[in-house]
Amino acid sequence: MPEHHPHRRALLTLPPDAAEGGEDQSSALGPELARAATRFGRTLGEAGLLHVTGAWVPAGLPPTPDRPYTELGHPIGTESPLLALASLVGEVISFADWHAGARVQNLYPLRGEASRQNAGNAVYLEMHTETAFRPNTPDALVLLCLRADERVDTLACDLLDVWAGLDPGTRRALAEPAFAFRLPGGTLTEPKPVASRWRGRLRFNYAEALCAVGEEYERPLRTLREGIADRTVTINLRTGDLLLIDNTHLVHGRTAYQPRYDGTDRWLQRCLIRAAA
Ligand SMILES: [Fe+2]
Repeated sequence: MPEHHPHRRALLTLPPDAAEGGEDQSSALGPELARAATRFGRTLGEAGLLHVTGAWVPAGLPPTPDRPYTELGHPIGTESPLLALASLVGEVISFADWHAGARVQNLYPLRGEASRQNAGNAVYLEMHTETAFRPNTPDALVLLCLRADERVDTLACDLLDVWAGLDPGTRRALAEPAFAFRLPGGTLTEPKPVASRWRGRLRFNYAEALCAVGEEYERPLRTLREGIADRTVTINLRTGDLLLIDNTHLVHGRTAYQPRYDGTDRWLQRCLIRAAA
């Protein structure tokens, strides 16, 4: 157990040349970043958010693609150090039905996705736990900003902070299996609790699209939603920034923007991580 309460939102600025790409993956990370990632992995459950600036600036990055990366598939060179970093946090996982099972997923706006709720969209990306309510929901994720767009903010909210401000009745309601998604056609998914236990700690599964199954759960869900709105922070990712997110207690999203679809759009890489056993 850490002796003090960790800073749940930390900024690590690497000195120039601290994380230069090289043949050797571990030296590409640099000792400071490797230590921070290892510590982050050990404290999952209360690790919060770690914003690393100056990690990698890929030289000669190709234009941002205009179709799903699974149709292109050439690595751009940041994959190995990103996987090495993610492996210090935990075990990198992937889903066969998501980005064709890729362990490094490429995220950028796609015209066909503009108004949908996924990371390739242009509208406001609603606050969410990454792949909430899956049996293998990742415990953490890492984002690497390959190409920034200063008009866009990443959004994050620590639900442990929101929880601290909730009354006991609201907490009890959020821990009951009373929250579901409404599928096209109107049927509801199996109701699940927003708040559950994981390794002796609180864990949250949340998405803005959740609805309450039962009238008595509507107010608690609304209270939680308002708490998230009050406590959401914005992060403007610059090229070469990394963001480590503890997915057990943080939700994240992104502001709306207008992609140009001309090869200069924002481009992120992402890894999903399961905590070490
Ligand atoms: Fe996400």
